[in-house]
Amino acid sequence: MDQPAVRYPEPGLADLLCLDDVEAAARRVLPAGIRDYVAGGSGAELTLRANRSAFDSVCLVPRILAGAGGCDLATRLLGTDLAMPVGVAPMAYQRLAHPDGELGLARAAREAGAVYVASMLSSYPIEEIAATGAAVWFQLYWLHDRRLVCDLLERAEEAGCRAIVLTVDVPRMGRRLRDMRSGFALPDGIVAANLPAAAGAAAGQRQARGSALMVHTRDAFDPALSWLEVDWLRRRTRLPLVLKGILHPDDAVRAVQLGVDAVVVSNHGGRQLDGAVSSVAALPAVRAAVGDRCELLLDSGVRGGLDVLRALALGASGVLLGRPAMWGLAAGGEDGARRVLDLLRTELEDAMTLAGCADVAAARWVRTVIPGEWGR
Ligand code: FNR
Ligand code: LAC
Repeated sequence: MDQPAVRYPEPGLADLLCLDDVEAAARRVLPAGIRDYVAGGSGAELTLRANRSAFDSVCLVPRILAGAGGCDLATRLLGTDLAMPVGVAPMAYQRLAHPDGELGLARAAREAGAVYVASMLSSYPIEEIAATGAAVWFQLYWLHDRRLVCDLLERAEEAGCRAIVLTVDVPRMGRRLRDMRSGFALPDGIVAANLPAAAGAAAGQRQARGSALMVHTRDAFDPALSWLEVDWLRRRTRLPLVLKGILHPDDAVRAVQLGVDAVVVSNHGGRQLDGAVSSVAALPAVRAAVGDRCELLLDSGVRGGLDVLRALALGASGVLLGRPAMWGLAAGGEDGARRVLDLLRTELEDAMTLAGCADVAAARWVRTVIPGEWGR
């Protein structure tokens, strides 16, 4: 007699209990090429893996009997009051994950009281993203076309963005072997909505061999970006300026000297220099070098509230969340994104309460034990 196949009901969003559950749900619905574009890193993906193993090696030493009775996640980043020390990292083309795209993720961020960093390569225009009412920061890549950079900057300022984030770790896009093998290109209907059609077209043109995004960015991005442009940008905008993609303490110090307001310690989620240090391992030395002269955010590998607490304990002022936010969108559009940020808040609250910290300031002083030479 035939055994009836065991059928498990598809889990609803409420059944997804951690960010890994959300990723698993997203992987079931996304086409392979898009899944690989989001999940992948560069080269042999050494740094992609190191981002996770470094987080997992950070052990926390809880305090007991703190008597706080709860904890307060509220914080202030670059003059904006937030409900938690979290932002959504800039990620290109969010409609790849779900038609809600950037608008859904920005609305979810607004509701969660988190920052939303809009990628220059967004698939909805920056004006529509800012109109969601989220606290939006605008991320800029340095383009050969300086007039286009000026244009984008002006549009972001006029749309009400609250900070400019210059990404400094992409003089060119890293070699993403998964995308090269799949011949990844933007599907019809998804475009770089902030760019004139001609300036973004290459991202949608399938290559005989290789990734259309790599071709597009190699044509468009200026690999000669240097401190001169940072200095120019600092003078050009009155908004707070953030540099994203710093790992070396001396670079962070130089950024502070030029008047940069915040640095994102990041290796681009393991998508740029393969073999680069994990951002978690780089963070303590960067904090030691800049002291309290600027805000420090961290991204690359954050997969739950526990990681947020680990990052705070190692000196971060807050974190940016990358891929899990895209997985949330894929799993359930705006609702899925909301679920991800809800889970992150719940987990952070849980971890802070169990570690004995009453608020974000106290989290900075949680003791960490790390096998090896880094940390404190
Ligand atoms: C990115 N990232 C990125 N960064 C940036 O400055 N501008 C961008 O347009 C993008 N686009 C982008 C797309 C996708 C699909 C991913 C996964 C990442 C990098 C991103 O901001 C962030 O640094 C990493 O994603 C953080 O690592 P985790 O959280 O994904 O491990
Ligand atoms: C990426 C580019 C767009 O990481 O930053 O895919």
